[in-house]
Amino acid sequence: MVLPSGVRERVAAVHGGSELPERLRLYDGWAARYEQDVAALEYRAPHLAAAALAFAFPAPPAGARLLDVACGTGLVARELHSRGFRCLHGVDGSAGMLERARRTELYQELRECVLGREPLPVPAEHYDAVTVVGALGEGQVPVTVLPELLRVTKPGGFLCLTTRSNPSNLRYKQELEAELGRLERCGAWHKLLAQEVERWERATSEEESTQGTGYISGVVYLYQKCPIPALEEG
Ligand SMILES: C[S@@+](CC[C@H](N)C(=O)[O-])C[C@H]1O[C@@H](n2cnc3c(N)ncnc32)[C@H](O)[C@@H]1O
Repeated sequence: MVLPSGVRERVAAVHGGSELPERLRLYDGWAARYEQDVAALEYRAPHLAAAALAFAFPAPPAGARLLDVACGTGLVARELHSRGFRCLHGVDGSAGMLERARRTELYQELRECVLGREPLPVPAEHYDAVTVVGALGEGQVPVTVLPELLRVTKPGGFLCLTTRSNPSNLRYKQELEAELGRLERCGAWHKLLAQEVERWERATSEEESTQGTGYISGVVYLYQKCPIPALEEG
């Protein structure tokens, strides 16, 4: 199936070599067409991440507070809302994406925050769950933010993260998995799930496609913060 006109170029632009501020401006410009484009790409990460969190919270307590980091236009909130989550907060580095998220009326709070440049604008141990979906990748949210995600999660709370396994993201994925493992060995959290998914989304080029399938693969990770973390920094 041929991708609609312009999708390939818009995806290539945000995954291209530009610096973070320029990428966030590209997201501002993409915001209006983002949901239409990712639907054409059969992007399933928000659905898969919400399903993984539902595994941790079979029945979310009414007051469970969740932070959707790099929330984009709100696709993760839509999935979580349909699974009973009602207290959703979001942050993102793109004002244009945040404006779309605001229009969903699914978030009680939305804040602009550029991860890797500034801390999350929230107190420590505030959230029952934290998600980062579709944004842990080369040139986007750096691996170094993991301790910051842990800081804002309550002891015993859950962190649901995703990344992609396409060739241009493999180096990042290796770094991410090394840091996930290091924090587990430090006693900061423990892994509940690492689900490899083959048809994560459609590839936008032959080189990125897994063995000519036309799709790229990805991973959903689910971690639980340890009650008394031994280490959250460094
Ligand atoms: C592919 S979209 C994913 C959005 C949403 N989570 C979803 O799954 O539809 C990536 C989002 O990450 C945001 N982003 C990328 N790098 C970021 C950073 N360093 N700090 C904050 N937001 C960032 C972008 O603005 C964009 O909204």
